[in-house]
Amino acid sequence: MSKQNVYDDRTFFENYRKNRNQAVNFNDCIESPILFSMLPDLQGKSVLDIGCGMGQHAKQYSEMGAASVLGTDISEKMLSYAREHNSAKNITYLHLAMEQLEVLDRKFDLITSSLVFDYVEDFDGLMVKIRNLMNDDAKLVFSLSHPIVTAWDGVYDRYTRTETGERLYANLRNYCMEGLRKVDWVVNGYEYYHRTVSSLINGLISAGLVIEECQEAYCSEELRTQYPALFGGTMHRPEFIFFRCRKACSDRFGKHSSVKEKSDARSD
Ligand SMILES: C[S@@+](CC[C@H](N)C(=O)[O-])C[C@H]1O[C@@H](n2cnc3c(N)ncnc32)[C@H](O)[C@@H]1O
Repeated sequence: MSKQNVYDDRTFFENYRKNRNQAVNFNDCIESPILFSMLPDLQGKSVLDIGCGMGQHAKQYSEMGAASVLGTDISEKMLSYAREHNSAKNITYLHLAMEQLEVLDRKFDLITSSLVFDYVEDFDGLMVKIRNLMNDDAKLVFSLSHPIVTAWDGVYDRYTRTETGERLYANLRNYCMEGLRKVDWVVNGYEYYHRTVSSLINGLISAGLVIEECQEAYCSEELRTQYPALFGGTMHRPEFIFFRCRKACSDRFGKHSSVKEKSDARSD
């Protein structure tokens, strides 16, 4: 199984760090507000942040009252930035690929991840590993690039534009062709995986997770008007998709069933 670690590439890391630290960026203006609106109360909770990157979210979870936060990431550069800039007594940063999450020997009340699952080849397998790390009443809240975005193969233009460069509409090609995308973006051969919306949903269901909420990224008209170059495309396509899930109850035959199915079975 291939595990790319592009964030340890100097050029890629510097480019990411610069963009992530801009006052106005996709993460802080669009991704984080939606993800945070889907979180449960964090007071006293144990949190796992998969692909924690530079640690901004881990720090916020700590400040929101989490008892402990474990941030894991494959990139040493991202982790060393996190340790330097986003530390707290109750945060631990650990060098760990998401493909190896099974080595963790504890469970969590909240598992979260922002814009990381684009990089996993086996999404279904990852969801099973995550489910195994969840306490019974735990939540999984995560975002990833929207399948309309990950369909891009680096060949076609993302937008059809007017002569003056205004985005007329978003282009989409090969949406139904799932799998690895290798594109030249910041570095040559940047890799991510494209999955359709139904594959994501079915991956969650087959891992024994129940979807409580799903959102697609949106941007206020105000922000779009203020920063047209950055956010002008958001009226044509959602950049990210978000899910909040809980564990389905397992019935005594070892299959997954919903809470409702379980209570129906009990009253028989
Ligand atoms: C777009 S950044 C997001 C960082 C952070 N979650 C945030 O929202 O600021 C993606 C992160 O995923 C990490 N990552 C990529 N592949 C990974 C893997 N296989 N296992 C763990 N982390 C991975 C990268 O190193 C990077 O820190």
